Amino acid sequence: PILIFDFGSQFAQLIARRVRELNVFCQLVRHDLPAARVRELNPKGLIFSGGPASVYEKSAPKCDPKIYDLGIPILGICYGMHLVSHDLGAKVDPAHSREFGRAILHVHSATGFLEGLPDKSTVWMSHGDQVNQSSNDFEMLASTDTCPWAAVRHKTRPIYGIQFHPEVNHTEQGRLILKNFLMNICGCHALWKMQTFIDRTISEIREKVGNNRVICGLSGGVDSSVVAALLLKAIGPQAACIFVDNGLLRMGEADAVRKMFSEWYKADLHMVDAEKRFLDALKDVSDPQLKRKTIGYHFIEVFKQEARSIPNAKFLAQGTLYPDVIESGGAVDGPAATIKTHHNVGGLPKELGFELIEPLRDLFKDEVRRLGVELGLPEELVWRHPFPGPGLAVRCLGNITKDRLEILRKADKIFLQELKESGWYKKTSQAFVVLLPVQSVGVMGDGRTYENAVALRAVQTDDFMTADWSHLPHDFLAKISTRIINEVRGVNRVVYDISSKPPATIEWE
Ligand code: XMP
Repeated sequence: PILIFDFGSQFAQLIARRVRELNVFCQLVRHDLPAARVRELNPKGLIFSGGPASVYEKSAPKCDPKIYDLGIPILGICYGMHLVSHDLGAKVDPAHSREFGRAILHVHSATGFLEGLPDKSTVWMSHGDQVNQSSNDFEMLASTDTCPWAAVRHKTRPIYGIQFHPEVNHTEQGRLILKNFLMNICGCHALWKMQTFIDRTISEIREKVGNNRVICGLSGGVDSSVVAALLLKAIGPQAACIFVDNGLLRMGEADAVRKMFSEWYKADLHMVDAEKRFLDALKDVSDPQLKRKTIGYHFIEVFKQEARSIPNAKFLAQGTLYPDVIESGGAVDGPAATIKTHHNVGGLPKELGFELIEPLRDLFKDEVRRLGVELGLPEELVWRHPFPGPGLAVRCLGNITKDRLEILRKADKIFLQELKESGWYKKTSQAFVVLLPVQSVGVMGDGRTYENAVALRAVQTDDFMTADWSHLPHDFLAKISTRIINEVRGVNRVVYDISSKPPATIEWE
């Protein structure tokens, strides 16, 4: 593999994704991974990420200096470049001002590391320090107007540095530079392919499971569906899928899961109809966090009960993804946990007593989607927007009743249908209807009405941590509004949410 040393860059995961896109397997590791461990992992190359520190700070993150003697190619990016330069005798200067944004890179030597690059191209900078005077051991490969040592090579060791960020899209030749490093310098081959991953994962699952049974919780979303599809391919009838219908799903959702897994895949599917239990428990609950807690608690109880009815079940399969593993600090050699408050209620506690199977724990979301396609899951499922664990409960503001949920479902169905037909579904990251706890006056025919208002929410985002509201065309919004008011009894007003995150959140509760 390629190991990416995380020096605290906001872009470390992005570097990993870019490397994977070039079909080379890579892992994010702690910046202080000992050289002995690096040797054991036998990587073809190392990438040192950027980071917010300055190499002269006392607390600046360092790598084990013995790594430089392993003979493994290293690419230092931004802070990573400062570190290798500093450690190998060059001088890094604190810049007088931070450089942030685009710059023009002039290439002096378009071979090897910079093979195929034009004389001039745009790169993206984000740094304070820079190398102003390198040592005799380094050769200058490219410069910008303000940064002479923008790309360097060590004269005797396979060590490279770049001041700009090749992983962001604003760096025009970023992918080519990474590719050159991987293929020309490290001698990697583009072998990380989905089919290889599937074959390897299937045999690993078979070996681990033996004759036991595996329980797989289905949510209707992409991740759990891909896990189920993999399991069914690997061990067929030894897999038991549990789907809890909590009465808070969108229209047709439970049926779609039944159709796909029971009829199509012939899976051993345990559908638990727990609508009454959940709605009873949520009666008179209007506080959002209490809704989440209540739903989380009952989900675990219902799941546990159903799991007990499956004999010889020793394993539980979960759709944990690589970013979850990294962010929880759960990667064996990976970086420490980063702060991320996530309110996922889908997690099942350890007390269930199962051994875990997490076949997606090395994958990013876009890779899970590619895997889904490769496994033959329908497009519609593979490209589904995320749906929160507490479901419509957090979109039915205030009190939850069966009637109010039904109004919400009908309106939401119209919105989703129109988004899909117009092609906007793929251009948005998440879109849904919220039923407001507001009644407003309207006129219909000759009569005065006093009915519900709903809000439409549509956002675009890469990581769901920040998001922009989607600029849906007015005509399109008008059509949806007309349809909802005409077709959904109980709604006489539709509004469009034009708040971005932050300061608003994507959900209303
Ligand atoms: P917010 O509203 O915090 O949402 O901007 C960010 C993303 O997280 C989803 N979300 C949840 N997912 N359980 C979940 O599994 C929850 O309680 C929950 N709350 C929000 C939300 O749909 C969006 O994708």
